[in-house]
Amino acid sequence: MRFSTFAAGAVGILASTAAAIPTISVKGSKFFDSNGNQFFVKGVAYQLVPDDPLIDNNQCKLDAALMKELGANSIRVYHVDPSGDHRACMSTFADAGIYLWLDLDTFTTQIEQDKPQWNATQLEEFQKVMDEFQKFDNTAGFFIGNEVLTTGNGSVAAPYVKAATRDLKAYRDRKKYRNIPVGYSAADIATLRPMLQNYLTCGSNSSESIDFFALNAYEWCGQNTYAGSGYSALNAMVTQYPVPIFFSETGCNTVAPRDFGDQGAIFGKDMSPYWSGSIIYEWIEESNHYGLISYGAKVDASSPGAPPDGFPRSGTPIPVQPDFSNLANQWKTVSPSSIKAADYKPTLTPPPCPDATPGVWEVKGNVVLPSVGQTFNSADATKTSSGSVQPSATSTKKGDANSLSVGHVLAGLGGAVAVGFCLL
Ligand SMILES: *[C@@H]1O[C@H](CO)[C@@H](O)[C@H](O)[C@H]1NC(C)=O
Ligand SMILES: *[C@@H]1O[C@H](CO)[C@@H](O)[C@H](O)[C@H]1NC(C)=O
Ligand SMILES: *[C@@H]1O[C@H](CO)[C@@H](O)[C@H](O)[C@H]1NC(C)=O
Repeated sequence: MRFSTFAAGAVGILASTAAAIPTISVKGSKFFDSNGNQFFVKGVAYQLVPDDPLIDNNQCKLDAALMKELGANSIRVYHVDPSGDHRACMSTFADAGIYLWLDLDTFTTQIEQDKPQWNATQLEEFQKVMDEFQKFDNTAGFFIGNEVLTTGNGSVAAPYVKAATRDLKAYRDRKKYRNIPVGYSAADIATLRPMLQNYLTCGSNSSESIDFFALNAYEWCGQNTYAGSGYSALNAMVTQYPVPIFFSETGCNTVAPRDFGDQGAIFGKDMSPYWSGSIIYEWIEESNHYGLISYGAKVDASSPGAPPDGFPRSGTPIPVQPDFSNLANQWKTVSPSSIKAADYKPTLTPPPCPDATPGVWEVKGNVVLPSVGQTFNSADATKTSSGSVQPSATSTKKGDANSLSVGHVLAGLGGAVAVGFCLL
């Protein structure tokens, strides 16, 4: 982590004494650290409180220490307050060898598929988050959006996602920030595959394309297999993908306990040549029951001082067993096939931009991207049909309809803030 306010001499002293964490960047379809080693994400979704979990360093210390035991090298955080002081927490995570994958949007600034727009307020808010977190060497990547598109007619929002990508990458470069990858985190919707992933990287101008793609997938539940889970089908769609791809959420919980058998596949011989790891949903146990740890037993939410949903949100993390150890053992035993940056000569080129199909994918090829301030109106689309396509029941096997949606995860405070969609 860099302290830009230090005098040059002080920086020199610091640099020679502290072992800096290597930075992460993209080459071809893989991530590499600045030592030239390929990087695979082993992450956990981390959003203890809705506004910002990276402020309270005592809490970060407690969690980072246990994450290190788990074998995690990454956290994903969905929302932060860019005006907060994140130096202590980011340093704590860096010391534990843990990187941050951060969503740039806040509750009020995300791009919405029902009313797509990309305006100056959104741009400024995204820029503030980038300004704050580009300072830290363990910031691994930014998400420009999370599950923005979930329906066929919602696909008209895709050019808005790409416009935001264009503007944040241009801002990063104009400000001479490190080349921090800017990517997108997609809902696993069968009917939008593979158009969305291809669209976000298509065209000849990489300044307008995402640097990586990530998928929130809950297809592998209980004892399953590479073929039976649907992962083989996901894999078939990415073997020619020109940028890194990984699971930005995984960890179906419909069968307890979770054994995380999918980690063996993701980091195994079939998938690891193409995928860059996974982020497990999620660290804290709350009403949706995806937790790897809890901060103690649920309390009566109506008792004085109780957290709104009764799930303690701070303190000493206690592993949820056997899930926690199952995941630790999976990560301990996997050995993905990897390559050194120096030996890697990328050859893949961007995929063609998908054609429009009414109600399925309504963006006609490589359309001109919206400019800042533009709001979608149907005249922008080449197709007039805007029938909504329901995600197919098999597009995810996320589980029982009562489980809190992990779409648009607003992990903090459980169901109270869930605005996501529930498949099934
Ligand atoms: C900009 O977009 C955000 C998010 O969609 C919206 O809440 C806000 O009202 C928009 N601002 C203007 C000035 O249109
Ligand atoms: C897509 O269809 C749904 C349901 O009919 C509607 O609410 C939504 O506004 C439509 N989206 C767009 C971008 O037209
Ligand atoms: C690529 O896109 C950027 C951002 O939209 C634009 O400034 C640049 O002119 C484009 N380059 C080409 C060759 O079209």
